[in-house]
Amino acid sequence: MEIFIDSANMTEIKKWLDTGIIDGVTTNPSVMLKDGVYDIEKGARQIAALIKPRPLSVEVTTNDLDEMLAQARRFASWANNIAIKIPQENQDGIPCYGVMHQLESEGIRVNATAALSFGQVVLAAKAGATYISIFSGRVGDEGGNAAEVIANSVDWLERWDFKSKIIVGSIRAVADILQAALAGAHIVTIPPQFLGKMADHQYTRQTVRQFIEDAQKALEKMK
Ligand code: E4P
Repeated sequence: MEIFIDSANMTEIKKWLDTGIIDGVTTNPSVMLKDGVYDIEKGARQIAALIKPRPLSVEVTTNDLDEMLAQARRFASWANNIAIKIPQENQDGIPCYGVMHQLESEGIRVNATAALSFGQVVLAAKAGATYISIFSGRVGDEGGNAAEVIANSVDWLERWDFKSKIIVGSIRAVADILQAALAGAHIVTIPPQFLGKMADHQYTRQTVRQFIEDAQKALEKMK
């Protein structure tokens, strides 16, 4: 399983990249706004350069399908490790699978984003998306069973030998990460605060404290 970081914060991305556990980065317009990245091109170029050859997902910011295509081509030209997030449908309910299919046929990697159901995953895979992002937290918001959607999606993709990889995002707790991992997610994209929480256990800290104190006591006895 790969781990991506769901952030546009360069300091956090670099910090976690240096640990060796990060295989890629995802962003969206809300993540960029929250992290103070207002110039998408500048921010995306910086992150892509920092993490290359690992992939960076950058999302289109328009509701118009022709503009999505044009934006996607422009965003993809900024660096060769940029994948373009295209939603399953626009805000008016028009499916965006044709946009995904066209971009993939041009060699532009697509992250089919905001998937909330197994049916959407099936369609995005058929359209040829490299990545399909299931929004675990938002599936749960609607009373859905995210683990079931993830497991069904991964099983179905593997049964029919599709190349698409499932990214699980919309992480709201460490438990969501573990649930996605056990459900077979190919990738989980994790906001930095949950990477810190996932690494921490109070009894680990206490254990390390005890070992250091005993090592110091041993040194004292040697004097
Ligand atoms: C990841 O690719 C998504 O953009 C992100 O995890 C969405 O999370 P949210 O549901 O908290 O907005």
